[in-house]
Amino acid sequence: MNFQGKSFLKTKDFSKTELNFLIDLGIHFKKLKKERIPHPYLLNQRIALIFEKTSTRTRAAFTVAALDLGASVEFLSSKDLQLGKKESVEDTARVLGSMFDGFEFRGFSQEVVEDLAKYSGVPVWNGLTDEWHPTQMIADFMTIKENFGKLEGLHLVYIGDGRNNVSHSLLVTAAILGVDISISSPQDLQPSFKIVKLAEEKAKKSGAKIRVIEDPIEAVQTADVIYTDVWTSMGEEKETIKRIELLRDYQVNKKLVENIQGDYIFLHCLPSNHDLKTELGKEFFKKFGLEALEVTDDVFRSEQARQFEQAENRLHSIKAIMAATNGNLFIP
Ligand code: CP
Ligand code: NVA
Repeated sequence: MNFQGKSFLKTKDFSKTELNFLIDLGIHFKKLKKERIPHPYLLNQRIALIFEKTSTRTRAAFTVAALDLGASVEFLSSKDLQLGKKESVEDTARVLGSMFDGFEFRGFSQEVVEDLAKYSGVPVWNGLTDEWHPTQMIADFMTIKENFGKLEGLHLVYIGDGRNNVSHSLLVTAAILGVDISISSPQDLQPSFKIVKLAEEKAKKSGAKIRVIEDPIEAVQTADVIYTDVWTSMGEEKETIKRIELLRDYQVNKKLVENIQGDYIFLHCLPSNHDLKTELGKEFFKKFGLEALEVTDDVFRSEQARQFEQAENRLHSIKAIMAATNGNLFIP
């Protein structure tokens, strides 16, 4: 296995062994952090964090991970950069790559993050695009592994917008890792044909079972993990009303989770619309009379909920990705 100098742009670029290595390295870094054992694998490196879209977890995780690894960071929002407007992605990549040792990019286009990696000459880490959310995947499967002590043989059920970055990433990553996965969405929001095909190809090798299913009640029966995400992703705000109409019956609520036959955990990449304590939450309540969208507050606060462990694991897993790709680790 050799990660050194590689970018982390989407999980489909990595093998099952490589993804498992990153998950386990994340678990290792979590222990080091808790025991306050220093791990400065990126000592004196300079890391840029480029954000076109907003973020709490990803920005915080990259920042703290870099600092824990001995690097320093510079945050660059799209308002600060000329990226794509006054200066091409290629030129920007060449300049940043000549000064920084690596950088994270969160934005709209997957093509942009791929081009940044192509032209910068340094590792680029995808902090979310419209298509993929690969760093999220390492944290998610790390959380699942911590809770069940294994990955293979488990059944992950994702309910909601089946064609967004998180759903597509879960589908392909589960297929690589040998985790059975069901995506439950209305027909208009089911995963793209291309991604299902890709997942099926990966599943042939790992033995994972892949299912796209309209009925959420049938979907959840044998779930070990229930996962949901927002109904409208960043950049799609105009679709909100349509999405509420399409996804009303896909809310993860007490009634739905009562259909699960055994023990399970609940995951959500966050942020989430689960109560009326946000501006958006209040707006949805006023317009549609809904106290929550994709998950109700009782499920969000239930004993099965693991979304805050999952959020913390963004730190440890992003650290694993940065150290593996830029830390000159000896990996036998
Ligand atoms: N899950 C996640 O990516 O969160 P942020 O948008 O806060 O970074
Ligand atoms: N699908 C969501 C994920 C946020 C972490 C979005 O793209 O907005």
